[in-house]
Amino acid sequence: MDETSLLKQLARSLMTGQPIAAADPLRPCWHLAPPVGLLNDPNGFIQHQGRYHLFYQWNPFACAHGAKFWGHWSSTDLLHWRHEPVALVPSEPYESHGCYSGSAVVQDNRIVLIYTGNVKYPDGSRTANQCLAIANERDEFDKLGPVLPLPAGYSGHVRDPKVWQHDGRWYMVLGAQDLQQQGKVILLVSDDLQQWHSRGDIAGSRLNGLGDFGYMWECPDLFELEGQDILICCPQGLPAEAERYLNTHQAGYFVGQLDYVQAHFPHGEFHELDLGFEFYAPQTTQAEDGRRLLFGWMGIPDQDELLQPTVAQGWIHTMTCPRELSYHDGQLYQRPARELQQLRGERRYWQGRADDAPLYTADSAELWLQCDGPFRLQLAQALSLEWDGTRLTLSRPHVRTADLEHRYWRGNLTELQILCDHSSVEIFINGGAAVMSARYFPQHKLSFDFTGDAQLNLQHWPLAMPVIE
Ligand code: FRU
Repeated sequence: MDETSLLKQLARSLMTGQPIAAADPLRPCWHLAPPVGLLNDPNGFIQHQGRYHLFYQWNPFACAHGAKFWGHWSSTDLLHWRHEPVALVPSEPYESHGCYSGSAVVQDNRIVLIYTGNVKYPDGSRTANQCLAIANERDEFDKLGPVLPLPAGYSGHVRDPKVWQHDGRWYMVLGAQDLQQQGKVILLVSDDLQQWHSRGDIAGSRLNGLGDFGYMWECPDLFELEGQDILICCPQGLPAEAERYLNTHQAGYFVGQLDYVQAHFPHGEFHELDLGFEFYAPQTTQAEDGRRLLFGWMGIPDQDELLQPTVAQGWIHTMTCPRELSYHDGQLYQRPARELQQLRGERRYWQGRADDAPLYTADSAELWLQCDGPFRLQLAQALSLEWDGTRLTLSRPHVRTADLEHRYWRGNLTELQILCDHSSVEIFINGGAAVMSARYFPQHKLSFDFTGDAQLNLQHWPLAMPVIE
């Protein structure tokens, strides 16, 4: 379909669906969600001239994966977001099955998008073109077309370019699958964003001391933090273990040192970035004040997504909250971006036995707690968190079977910071040393219901803020 037809269909979809989606009580109070249809990966996250830009994988026509558009929001404070013109519409033959994920850079003071043009063939095969688009004066993006066809030695699964500048040159990492069906990350270099030269695989299954580690790696991101190079990626095909790799696909990171000359990336072991039920395809950017910020998609591909109840209201999925990354004591930390503290209403403080704790209720809230022993916390009667002294267990009924499903963290619990929106919860453990993110679909107003003998220190804030202007 040509661009005009796609935009006419998009207008109809919005006019019909937006009032219904907007009235859904499960729509987030302050997380980013699609106006209609399906949202997945955060794309093109960047700050330019003080304004943050966040693009997103978007199917505006249905709550299903399909030929993706790039939606676009912007904000000066990470709290108030405004809709920008739709950035990319999959109208060209080189992107016929979607303007897939990618990133943004600033070149000559203009934002340039680097994304994957995904093309599927009737026999089930596919190819991928890495493409550019550049901002014009109307805050729209003009396509410059493909700059990199499918490299030799890989299947048609090569996508999700993340580009950054280092020592005056442009570098790109790409998620890939090689011809032996092993997931890989390819490093490429360019002097002008147009001509790209492959430096080969820098990480992947059966590389750098890893054994079999997935048939495809999606959405890589590589950046420096406190003198370390962090490679984020999403390996698909890791077998589930008793307490980890429990989602259909994983999102995690390796810490190492990238040798830009030799194109080597010796690294340590893989760590999951989030131990909850929904977290995937995260993307980071460096803010103008130097902070490394991250957004993730609070969803997992192929994980019974389309059974979520918001589908009946014509929308599905949200972003995580924006998070600040730091690295110390050999560990990556994620904390809610400090701007989010501005959402806090009046603080309530309470100390005492878990069984006696007040039942705080709110539409959306932040809870901070310390404990001296085991307790159980029930959230909106829809999701529970249990600390037994050695293991933290997050549980909820499975969206298809209604059987309880669980996710785990082990360690020495010192504090929890929990952010709850109408249909999501993000649990930051020990100052962000671990995180558990999940969607939930409560039928009741949000409440925090504690049981147990432990002594608790609690702080509670209602959170409120209109997100979209
Ligand atoms: C990850 C992903 C990416 C791809 C995009 C398509 O969720 O599969 O690899 O570019 O979604 O929407």
